[in-house]
Amino acid sequence: MGVDTKKPEAVLSIEKMSKYYPVGQGFRSRQKLRALHEVDFEVGRGEVVALVGESGSGKSTIARQIMRLEQPDSGRILFEGQDVLKEEPRGASLSYRQKVQMIFQDPFGSLNPVHTIIHHLVRPLLRHGKCTKAQARGRALELLTEVGLEPAADFADRHPYELSGGQRQRVAIARALAVEPTLIVADEPTSMLDVSIRVGVLNLLERLRQQHRLSFIFITHDLASAYHLADRVLVLYAGQIVEEAPTAKLLSEPAHPYTRLLLAATPQASASIHQPLPATSGHPELVNPSPGCAFAPRCPLAMDQCRQSMPKAHLIGPDHRSRCHLHASETSHTGGPNASALIP
Ligand SMILES: Nc1ncnc2c1ncn2[C@@H]1O[C@H](COP(=O)(O)OP(=O)(O)OP(=O)(O)O)[C@@H](O)[C@H]1O
Ligand SMILES: [Mg+2]
Repeated sequence: MGVDTKKPEAVLSIEKMSKYYPVGQGFRSRQKLRALHEVDFEVGRGEVVALVGESGSGKSTIARQIMRLEQPDSGRILFEGQDVLKEEPRGASLSYRQKVQMIFQDPFGSLNPVHTIIHHLVRPLLRHGKCTKAQARGRALELLTEVGLEPAADFADRHPYELSGGQRQRVAIARALAVEPTLIVADEPTSMLDVSIRVGVLNLLERLRQQHRLSFIFITHDLASAYHLADRVLVLYAGQIVEEAPTAKLLSEPAHPYTRLLLAATPQASASIHQPLPATSGHPELVNPSPGCAFAPRCPLAMDQCRQSMPKAHLIGPDHRSRCHLHASETSHTGGPNASALIP
């Protein structure tokens, strides 16, 4: 979002990343769906950044580009200052693959049913040269203990189907940890778990982040989970970051009308909103989008300008940006906390 000053300790910088998917049938009718449009953000060392937005807003598309599962149409990905996209996806260095790990939504799908739990940990340990063959079982047991699967020996030789969903997600976390990553991209890691189990896994991620000074991109459609874990929240709508702020700020002084609607729909968070906007529904137009703000058709505060031109990201407070025409006149590079003044 038009980042003005680079934080010195950025581990990952995404710059103007766009991704369009071809859709439709036949040569002539081939159209493109806008999944990401000029997305900019940074993740600092040891920082948890939450990506929040409704289904189809582009959260997993961002994850897929960072993991080199797809190639963005344009933009840059800098990891520890290195331009990651300069390498072919298949040739992406072992070092990048080691330092950036992913945890998926479905722990069952991400574990191989024919292999034991210990196999899932020993394999990356050996592949990335983290220990010798003789040490591997001992190190794998330590990892299981670290993620709360105790006594580790009881879990080691079981298969994924012999574990609960929460336990399987802990194995997936242990596997990511095995290679000593710098950044973990967690795509809805708790959304398939029971609420009672969810808090335990979130607490585990928080502990690991502190102990290992790990950075996280935490993808969720649930602001309450973001509140639990994230230092900063990026709100995504129709492939664009529409608001970015430190978590407490975003929850207490949401500025963008979409964030305010999202918060109003989150019972745990909505108590802090004094005047929620009236709820609206609908889907953004991602194929042949209009030139204006993607949220304008749903926005209770939309003006003529909103349908005509895409708003820029305006700095409205310290580390607080909103991509909304309402905030154009409030742009303050001194960082005064003036977002609340805009809430009618
Ligand atoms: N391979 C593809 N081909 C065509 N369209 C795609 C493809 N992958 C994703 N999309 C579209 O891109 C948009 C963003 O998808 P994405 O998976 O990033 O959403 P998301 O925010 O992760 O949603 P969810 O919360 O449902 O997981 C959606 O409209 C989706 O349908
Ligand atoms: Mg997704």
